[in-house]
Amino acid sequence: MGIEKIPRHVAIIMDGNGRWAKLREKPRIFGHRKGVERAKEASEFALEVGIEVLSLYAFSTENWARPKDEVEFLMTLLENYLDKELPTMVEKGIRFHPIGRIHQLPESTRKKVLETVKATEKNDKLTLNLALNYGGQAELVDAFKSLAQMVLEGHLQPREIQEKLVEEYLYTRGQPPPDLLIRTSGERRISNFLLWQMAYTEFYFTSTLWPDFDRAEFLKALLDYQKRERRFGGV
Ligand code: IPE
Ligand code: IPE
Ligand code: MG
Repeated sequence: MGIEKIPRHVAIIMDGNGRWAKLREKPRIFGHRKGVERAKEASEFALEVGIEVLSLYAFSTENWARPKDEVEFLMTLLENYLDKELPTMVEKGIRFHPIGRIHQLPESTRKKVLETVKATEKNDKLTLNLALNYGGQAELVDAFKSLAQMVLEGHLQPREIQEKLVEEYLYTRGQPPPDLLIRTSGERRISNFLLWQMAYTEFYFTSTLWPDFDRAEFLKALLDYQKRERRFGGV
C-alpha cells in the first residue's frame, strides 16, 4: 500500500452486529461481543498502517431507545473492554479519547472511561476517539451554548465566531477532520456522526456486517480511498 496516501483520520460507523447475530439465530448481544473484537482489530490495524486518529462510533445519543437490557449489556461490555484493553493501549501508545456526553453515562462506566483517559493521556501513536453517547447535533448544541455564554458574559463578540473558533469547542479540537468514513452493514447514512467534521470526508459503504469487518476489509477500504481525487471545492 502506498504510504503517501494513508488517511490521517478514519471514522467508522460499526453497524450490523444485531443482523450478524440474527443470521446465526443468536441473541443480538452475541453480535456485540464479536463486534468488540473487531474494534480492537481495527485499532491495531490503524496503528500499524500509521493512521493518526481513529473514531469509532460505539453508542449514539439515539441508542438509548433500545431495550433496557441491550443498553445495559453494551455498557458492561464497554467496561470490560476498557479493563482488558488498558495494558495494550499503554504498551502500544494508544491515547483513549472518548467523544460524547460522557457525564450522562452510568456512574461505573463513566468512572472507567475517565480512568482510561487518565492512564493513556501521554500516549501519542494513535488517538482512539470512542464515540459514547455521541450525537453530532448534541455536540454542536453544546458548542453553541458555550459560545453563547461567552457572548453573554462579554468575553466574545458575535463577529468573532468563525469556523476555527467553533472547532475549538468540539470534542475533536486539535485533530485533523476525518479523511475517510467507513460504514458497514449496507446502510448509507451517517446517523448523526461527526456532522461538522465530515464536511469534506470521503465515504465508503460496504455491505459487510461489522462482526465480519477484518483487516482485509479495512485494507480494501483504504485502497479504495487511495483512488479518490479530493478537490475541497477547488479544481
Ligand atoms: C451496531 O450494530 C452497534 C451499535 C449500534 C451499538 P447494531 O446493534 O446497530 O446492529 P444492527 O444494525 O441492528 O444489525
Ligand atoms: C449507528 O448505528 C450508531 C452506532 C454504530 C453506534 P445505528 O444502528 O444506531 O443507526 P441507525 O439507527 O440504523 O441509523
Ligand atoms: Mg444498526
